Amino acid sequence: MTTLIIGGSGFLGTELIRQARAAGHRTAATYHVTVPAFTSETAWYPLDLRDAERLAVIVAETRPSLIINASSGGADWATTAEAPVRLAMTARRHGSHLVQVSTDAVFSGIICGPDLALVV
Ligand SMILES: NC(=O)c1ccc[n+]([C@@H]2O[C@H](COP(=O)([O-])OP(=O)(O)OC[C@H]3O[C@@H](n4cnc5c(N)ncnc54)[C@H](OP(=O)(O)O)[C@@H]3O)[C@@H](O)[C@H]2O)c1
Repeated sequence: MTTLIIGGSGFLGTELIRQARAAGHRTAATYHVTVPAFTSETAWYPLDLRDAERLAVIVAETRPSLIINASSGGADWATTAEAPVRLAMTARRHGSHLVQVSTDAVFSGIICGPDLALVV
């Protein structure tokens, strides 16, 4: 089984890769600007989640059973809110399960975007 970790170069993503490999999964992972230490054990792909076409190419190429979105776009609405919607649709098209990690950006109590304000 292949697990694709979006944001594999990050704090959480690094640990998820380690644990997925320990569980016997093939791993593929993405980075945005932090070029990781490449190893033969994980297939790495550069990705900006705001690039829908690139995301689709990576999912089509890796054909993951499981996708984990461990990215953190902070206050960038396109990365934190819009991209996960596209990711969910892409996962569905390819029959992949998706785990979406919640962002700690909600801790302030308010999420604001151009068309949405959600008070939690
Ligand atoms: N760390 C914690 O204690 C903690 C606590 C609660 C919740 N969380 C949640 O867990 C998730 C991951 O957090 P983290 O601490 O692991 O974050 P992190 O270390 O900052 O890693 C963020 C990851 O997202 C990638 N990324 C950033 N912008 C991107 C973009 N536009 N397109 C694609 N990838 C992008 C980064 O790639 P590059 O590094 O290559 O730029 C990196 O791999 C977040 O949702 C965070 O809110 C974390």
